[in-house]
Amino acid sequence: MILIIDFGSQYNQLIARRVREHQVYCQIEPPDIALDKIRSLNPEGIILSGGPASIYEARSPRADKGIFSLGIPVLGICYGLQFMVDALGGKVVRSDKREYGFAELSLKKAGKLFSGVGKRTRCWMSHGDQIGRLPAGFAITASTENTEVAAAEDARKRFYGLQFHPEVVHTAEGKKILENFLFGVCGCEKSWTMKAFIREAVEEIRQTVGDKRVVFGLSGGVDSSVAAVLLHKAIGRQLTCVFVDNGLLRLGEAEKVRALFAKNLKMNVRFARAAGAFVGRLKGVVDPERKRKIIGRTFIEVFEKEAKKIKGAEFLGQGTLYPDLIESRSAFGGPSAVIKSHHNVGGLPKRMKLKLVEPLKHLFKDEVRLLGKELGLSDDVVWRQPFPGPGLAVRIVGEVTEKRLAILKNADAVLMEEIRAANYYRKLWQSFAVLLPIKSVGIMGDQRTYEYIIAIRAVTSEDAMTADWARLPHELLSRVSNRIINEVRGVNRVVYDISSKPPSTIEWE
Ligand code: XMP
Repeated sequence: MILIIDFGSQYNQLIARRVREHQVYCQIEPPDIALDKIRSLNPEGIILSGGPASIYEARSPRADKGIFSLGIPVLGICYGLQFMVDALGGKVVRSDKREYGFAELSLKKAGKLFSGVGKRTRCWMSHGDQIGRLPAGFAITASTENTEVAAAEDARKRFYGLQFHPEVVHTAEGKKILENFLFGVCGCEKSWTMKAFIREAVEEIRQTVGDKRVVFGLSGGVDSSVAAVLLHKAIGRQLTCVFVDNGLLRLGEAEKVRALFAKNLKMNVRFARAAGAFVGRLKGVVDPERKRKIIGRTFIEVFEKEAKKIKGAEFLGQGTLYPDLIESRSAFGGPSAVIKSHHNVGGLPKRMKLKLVEPLKHLFKDEVRLLGKELGLSDDVVWRQPFPGPGLAVRIVGEVTEKRLAILKNADAVLMEEIRAANYYRKLWQSFAVLLPIKSVGIMGDQRTYEYIIAIRAVTSEDAMTADWARLPHELLSRVSNRIINEVRGVNRVVYDISSKPPSTIEWE
């Protein structure tokens, strides 16, 4: 495995994903990780990530200098290089000019790290400080016009440093450089596959759970579906999933979950039919955050009541992913940490005195999809678009009523049918219909109509932090509009949302 020490760079998860793409397992740990823990992890290499700090700031993050005496190869990236230089007796100098963006890298010496890399190649820079004097034993291996020490090494000790970022796609040969570090320098093996992961995860789940029972909140989303199937593979009937039908799901969603998990996969699933409780409590509520709170609270109540019926449950299974874990413990507060805080049911395990099992907590989303495929789940499940916990309640602007829910479900079903038929489902991060609580005038036959408006939202995105409205073909939009107005009673106008995030958000509430 490779240990990545997290100095707070916005790119540190990207480093981890790049390493894993080469089928090498890696773990991201904070700078204060103890030397003993590093020894017990027994990494084949250490990568020191970049970070926003300057090594001269009093509170700049530092790792134990002992890492340089373990005999393990080290690759320092950006701030990671500066930390290494400072720790080994070199000098980092402040510069008043920030270097940000593309630069041309000229190799002075190929060595193991740059083996097979062109003599001149594009790299991506993002730094203020730079290296003034290298520690004894180090030599410059590459420069750019503005940065003399763009790369350096002490090949004898297997210490390497890059001032630029090999993990971002803008660095043309970044992939090759990381590959050289992993295999040429560290001698890693390509052993990280989902097959191997399943074997180990199943073993670990069995060890943890023993003969106790696990309760699991199944939502039908990618993470929860894959986690449930993995747990089921490990402990079979000791797992009981609880599916809460809050009445705020897409048309036919609850039935799909029942057909797949209960009928086909023969898993233990309890269905809590609670639409009445949710919709009842939302009566008269207009404020989006109040809706979320009511739904969150009701979910916990319903889930808890159902879970209490499962005798001898000691564990709660969750589909937590690696980015959530990294961000929740990061001293620097990952950018998406704040946004995600309202998505989970954090207080639940403590209240119910349950211990957590989170079998996906070291996986990235793309790995979860591969794992799902490996476990035999269909594309339909592993490529499902994200769906918010509060469901359609945040897609009806204003008050949620039974009637509005019915209209929205039908309009949304038409949209999704057309999106799939046009082969757009997987190209989009999310696509959905929104019901606007205002009425506008229309004409149907000879009749004047006065009915609701449906807004169509379709976005592309990498991670929901930013999103762009999708340039759907006009013919597709036209079909969607015609069908919704003709087939869904209560709607006489369809509009397309052409706002990006930021400054808009993906959802309307
Ligand atoms: P926004 O609307 O903030 O959404 O751009 C970003 C992503 O988060 C989802 N979302 C939620 N998911 N509970 C959830 O589980 C929520 O309250 C919630 N609000 C937004 C949204 O669908 C998008 O993927």
